[in-house]
Amino acid sequence: MRVSLYEETYENYKRFVNPPLARVMKLSGAPVAARAHGTTIWDHDGKAYLDFAGGYGVFTLGHTHPRVVAAVREQLDVMALSGKTMFEPLVGRLARALAAIAPGDLSISFFANSGTEAVEGALKLARAATGRAKIVATTNAYHGKTMGALAASGRDAYKTPFGPLLADVVHVPYGDARALTEALRGAAAFVVEPVQGEGGVVVPPLGYLRHARERCDADGALLIADEVQTGLGRCGYLFACERDGVVPDVMTLAKGLSGGVMPIGAYVARPSVWNAAYAKAPLAHTSTFGGNPLACAAALAALEVLRDDDLVAAARVRGERLLAGARAIAAEYPSVVREARGLGLLVGVELRSEGYGGTIIPEMLKRGVTAAWTLNAQRVIRLEPPLIVTPAEIDVALEALRAGVAAAYESLGALPETSSNA
Ligand SMILES: Cc1ncc(COP(=O)(O)O)c(C=O)c1O
Repeated sequence: MRVSLYEETYENYKRFVNPPLARVMKLSGAPVAARAHGTTIWDHDGKAYLDFAGGYGVFTLGHTHPRVVAAVREQLDVMALSGKTMFEPLVGRLARALAAIAPGDLSISFFANSGTEAVEGALKLARAATGRAKIVATTNAYHGKTMGALAASGRDAYKTPFGPLLADVVHVPYGDARALTEALRGAAAFVVEPVQGEGGVVVPPLGYLRHARERCDADGALLIADEVQTGLGRCGYLFACERDGVVPDVMTLAKGLSGGVMPIGAYVARPSVWNAAYAKAPLAHTSTFGGNPLACAAALAALEVLRDDDLVAAARVRGERLLAGARAIAAEYPSVVREARGLGLLVGVELRSEGYGGTIIPEMLKRGVTAAWTLNAQRVIRLEPPLIVTPAEIDVALEALRAGVAAAYESLGALPETSSNA
């Protein structure tokens, strides 16, 4: 008997990948992703889904953008991975391209393969540059799951099994610059997301990063802006720290950097900071696959598309439509939705109870729209579509969200509230 692609994949997940996760995904009706292009993913049965989970921010240009795919294909025949013993033209070009668009004098780039590695590199850079150990981070932050980035993250459930993590990491309430004054004394760095993505799409008060910058300067601590999720247009700014007109000392990037075609992560640093850390130790922090030619070719093409198609402005305009629509649904169903909030095309819909989510996301899936939880806040549904999304597609997704919220309200009524951390 022929086993379907769904059965084969589910069985493999259950036995060889992650048994409990496989069961949860099955229960929530997750299909098998078979193919993807633009804003659409097709499942094992050929059913199309508008991708409003967007790889948690990876697919800024949508899936398999033709210009990025062409650049990678061309590079594949030239040289796929690098040997690291010779100069690499694409590493140089990509670092130069980032220096041209990064805020202020951020101009020296280190390339890795993921967001957490970018953060890890930034934390190490800060310690090496300042000779200090303490890292200040924010409550409910998400910086990744390697040991250092995890230590700076906020959710205990992800941290407790692995302790002790990095020593000398303290957390201050997100969005409250006054709380930094005491914490920053003697610190190497303050690491912060310009908008907390996985924390539940939390937009800090305007001026927060500016105040953080001032306090870091007063204490000689470095400001690390973790733009892994918010950077490269997602929030309607090329980099979300521009909302406050702030130049961090180090900025981390990943997710959208290669336009959703190759894995890549990076930090971009001020030369003064980089030199203080590594002028005498150029091999102190390295990565075998980081900065490989395929990833660099993808990122260079993706940066061109971002510019040529004016996608930063598009994110701002389309984000307003998405947020306005989500707010209208919140107003229609106040006993289910506590609030809709966001910046650009990073929008969070906070439910009054986690219990509603189990109905809303599967209902949206049934209607051909993907959405996802934020990792640290299980009652916030994130809507994070590609920046190429059309107004009509936004309306379809909003209709699916409305139907999901209505279904939750009809089947569950008013549930007791789960506490908010936004
Ligand atoms: C702000 C931020 N930093 C770091 C990371 C970690 O990135 P990765 O999953 O690629 O390691 C994420 C992932 O969601 C993120 O949102």
